[in-house]
Amino acid sequence: MIKALRYLKPFWLSVIAIIVLTFAQVQFELALPDYMSGIVTYGIQYSGISDPVPQALRASTAEHMFLFMSEEEQEQFQKSYTLYPSGSTEMADLYPAMKSEDVYVLSSPDSSADFSSSFLIVSMLESEPAAEMSGMDSQALYTMLETNPEMKETILSKVSEQLSSYTEENQKSASLLALKNEYAALGMNIESLQNQYILKEGLMMLLITFLGSLCAVGSSFLSSRTATGACRNMRADVFRRVESFSSEEFSRFSTASLITRTTNDIQQIQQVINMSLRVVLFAPFMGLTSLFKVMRYKGMANILGWVLLVIVILMTITFVMTLPKFRLIQKLVDRLNLVTREQLSGMLVIRAFNNQEVEEKRFDDVNREITSVNIFVNRMLATIMPAMTFLMSFISVLIIWSASRQIDLGTMQIGDMMAFLQYAIHVLMSFMIVAVIFIMIPRSSVSATRIFEVLETEPMIHDPNDPKTLPQENQPITFHDVSFRYPNAEESVLRHISFEANPGETVAFIGSTGSGKSTLVNLIPRFFDVTEGSITYGNTDIRDVRQSDLRDRIGYVPQKGILFSGTIESNLRYADEAASPEMILQALDVSQSKEFVDRMPKGIQEPVAQGGTNVSGGQKQRLSIARALVKDPQVYIFDDAFSALDYATDAKLREALNRLVEKTKATVLIVAQRISTIRHADKIIVLDNGEITGIGTHDALMKNCSVYQEIALSQLSEEELA
Ligand SMILES: Nc1ncnc2c1ncn2[C@@H]1O[C@H](COP(=O)(O)OP(=O)(O)OP(=O)(O)O)[C@@H](O)[C@H]1O
Ligand SMILES: [Mg+2]
Repeated sequence: MIKALRYLKPFWLSVIAIIVLTFAQVQFELALPDYMSGIVTYGIQYSGISDPVPQALRASTAEHMFLFMSEEEQEQFQKSYTLYPSGSTEMADLYPAMKSEDVYVLSSPDSSADFSSSFLIVSMLESEPAAEMSGMDSQALYTMLETNPEMKETILSKVSEQLSSYTEENQKSASLLALKNEYAALGMNIESLQNQYILKEGLMMLLITFLGSLCAVGSSFLSSRTATGACRNMRADVFRRVESFSSEEFSRFSTASLITRTTNDIQQIQQVINMSLRVVLFAPFMGLTSLFKVMRYKGMANILGWVLLVIVILMTITFVMTLPKFRLIQKLVDRLNLVTREQLSGMLVIRAFNNQEVEEKRFDDVNREITSVNIFVNRMLATIMPAMTFLMSFISVLIIWSASRQIDLGTMQIGDMMAFLQYAIHVLMSFMIVAVIFIMIPRSSVSATRIFEVLETEPMIHDPNDPKTLPQENQPITFHDVSFRYPNAEESVLRHISFEANPGETVAFIGSTGSGKSTLVNLIPRFFDVTEGSITYGNTDIRDVRQSDLRDRIGYVPQKGILFSGTIESNLRYADEAASPEMILQALDVSQSKEFVDRMPKGIQEPVAQGGTNVSGGQKQRLSIARALVKDPQVYIFDDAFSALDYATDAKLREALNRLVEKTKATVLIVAQRISTIRHADKIIVLDNGEITGIGTHDALMKNCSVYQEIALSQLSEEELA
């Protein structure tokens, strides 16, 4: 999986942008609960008064406060506040009480000065319980205090005793409530104060939400682009690698598996990259920052600890149970792919042998197995969701229950509880997301392993480090004591093969099925490399040149004709994109395809279906031959390319080919089963069980090669042979 990360390299800018956006998003989202807490506590509970420092005080209140202030404090007070005498109009809009009494207004706030305790004392003395206790109204109380310093001391000590039992939280809320009364006495419009506060904070929340969403959209956009881009490159790499594979690697991986790896497996990776980019960073950021914020509320955080433990345990169980299944699923997808491919391409044979039922059962078995594994995995994953919802609700109840006790004790505000609840849920959510990623990553690492298996397979046949160049002119092809064994096979298929094919010469190979003819000619374009001996082109070993250089010289017609979807012309141009129309015509002519192509409704533009299924076997062979002719190569290899032609066409084709080759001096290698196809060849090589039993012309072989005689006699009558 780590290796897959190198595909993110070209997108590093996007990745950085995603990190920045994610970070910003977390910051925005986590700012919200604090705002909400503010709205509930200050906006609703304290009528929009959030600052415990009085903005204005009635002179009467201030004078009462002086009673409980030191000289120094009084001086500070005078510095911070300006006295507006009764009847001043300047600030009367804000503080209507100014019309009838003197008012102190905060003019130069000094953070080091704190008058809150004297303010609290005054507000307590003026409260109803105090009046009840002392049995006199506050005015009388103050008069008495002024005259009786002893009593003042007692009151002061009593009150400060009570105050010290208050928590900071309690003191603040007491000040805010007292302030609300003072502001009311000043005639201030408390309702509008409240509305303003809520509106301001509310707008702020809206703005933050909007910015948060912008970040979320941006990072989603970038991560989708990065994931798809990275996987596009990965797919291209896999495809390029597979193209360089020799038959050995193909049989090792199986075509079906290679297809699954290029499609399904890469899709898995894409999903996980996309998700990871968005949440792998987001969840830990979110979780840790929330956790940090939650820590502020001591005494509550440990609830969260327990719940997290439960989640970790749950996740581990799911993880252990599902991981082996993911491995299995990819294997089963391979199998399903294999069975489907085989059945679709072999449909005719299946029908002809009435084996539909057997095949259906084979398909059913794989299908059923893959379904049951998928159901199991999905069930596991599906139970996570309700379990998590349950946990969430459970922890919400737990938090509210424990917080309500703290609110009762006065150590917590309601707004704080709500904020804590939200942060706690954020922590849980992030934990869950991380857990889900922990499930997804192993799944995609199964896929990643499968992809890198392909990417890291060095093909058996590869270009030399220091390739030689081939001479321009056509050169003789020589086999020097060549032996060949298929990879993983026990015995050699070819043994001690030596011969030479010169430019302008036609060399034919004949022998019973399985004698190694196709294997022999496949060694020339290096579809396989010889096990012993060597093959040279001129003086150069074919392993010393680039594969593309070598194959450029060769026109190869395989035993099994293969056409690609497109038109007849596009198939011919497959050999040479720039071939002239005359060249194409000539190729059609020589390969005896002209006649049937002309008869097609659209001629050369006639569409060819996938795999060339809409032309007959013989037509396919002739078009394959034409394709090789368009290339105008130095060496032709016809692997049993005339087998599906009738005798007359075969003869005409060879005649046309001979005329062409005489001009171009190309080397022609023909594999054939029919004596008539090859009897005029310059050199005939008879293969028997991987060994050469005779080389020579038809006439010479008829005299000294018994294997050849046997083949010839079985095909031609005595007169024909004479
Ligand atoms: N990819 C392969 N892996 C292992 N063995 C193979 C492979 N291809 C062919 N063989 C074996 O090599 C032998 C020669 O096969 P080859 O295809 O060369 O025969 P051939 O002479 O072309 O036969 P035919 O006339 O039927 O085309 C056969 O016995 C076959 O079983
Ligand atoms: Mg063959």
